[in-house]
Amino acid sequence: MEEKTVKKRILTGDRASGNLHLGHYVGSIVNRLKLQEMYDCYYMVADLHALTTHYESPEEVRESAKSIFVDYLSVGLDPYKSTLFIQSCVPEHSELYLLFQMLVTISRAERIPTLKDKLEDLHIEEGLASLGLLGYPVLQAADILLYRADLVPVGEDQVSHIELTREIARRFNYLYGQTFPEPEAMLSEVSRLPGINGNKKMSKSLGNDISLSASKEEVREKVKAMVTDPEKIRKDDPGHPDVCTVFAFHKAFNKENAPYIETACKNGRLGCVADKEDLAAILNELLDPIRERRAQILGNPKNLRELLDMGNQKARSVASRTMEEVREKMRIGNPRFG
Ligand code: TRP
Repeated sequence: MEEKTVKKRILTGDRASGNLHLGHYVGSIVNRLKLQEMYDCYYMVADLHALTTHYESPEEVRESAKSIFVDYLSVGLDPYKSTLFIQSCVPEHSELYLLFQMLVTISRAERIPTLKDKLEDLHIEEGLASLGLLGYPVLQAADILLYRADLVPVGEDQVSHIELTREIARRFNYLYGQTFPEPEAMLSEVSRLPGINGNKKMSKSLGNDISLSASKEEVREKVKAMVTDPEKIRKDDPGHPDVCTVFAFHKAFNKENAPYIETACKNGRLGCVADKEDLAAILNELLDPIRERRAQILGNPKNLRELLDMGNQKARSVASRTMEEVREKMRIGNPRFG
């Protein structure tokens, strides 16, 4: 049977700001590995989105885009099963973004809650956001609808962007005729990893991450630096695993042994130093095959280029067909005299 034609399509992406870390691993990568077996998946490095905030350091954005693409391959996203590509290599994203801007009012864009958060994080005064930053979710809508994706795996914080995407699809369909499906957000069970400093979110910009490309030694150092229960000073003091960052990592990466560790820590039978050594070993075991694949991939730049070209081309062929239809419906492009 033609199984391929009934597979639903998925699109999701990562801003090209920094490389991927363990937080991405538990929060999205594990899920994407599963999804690629069941769906027609498009995984995109969003370098244009990164430029909305990092336009003063384009070189950083490019380096980050490269390293995220290598991360995709290293963790086992399969370029023959999924379409792996870089957003700016498919210029149709920018074109559809421009056209979608006609369909969104300024006040609607200003009401998207992530904008306020971004302004706060970046210490930008209200009214001084660039148009690019204001348009961020509209660009995201273009990313999604360009491929007529059915499902968009994202975190809770992105739901407002998917809602806007649905509105844009509806409005476009109403004005110019049925063209886009209304995609749905696909929320995975919340598995958020704290940063090594105990902050509730691991993030490169907060400097509390362990990157997927970290060396063994780096992993050991970072685990050593993790914040534990401040009341557990000596090895045999009874600990409180619920406030301990190391324990949060055990729950994410060492599920089977977590109940044992919890009891041993509470009873004062497990000290923080030994506990951290165990965790570092577990993380290194997880990262070892990823490191091996990364070394292989980086050892063959010609192949790497070919894989990227392949993904970009596949994405572009879908995107260009959508754009032909969009241009026709919006009556732009070659008017074909006679
Ligand atoms: N905005 C998303 C984030 O910050 C990244 C992203 C860009 C995205 N384009 C997308 C996610 C399209 C899903 C679909 O994480």
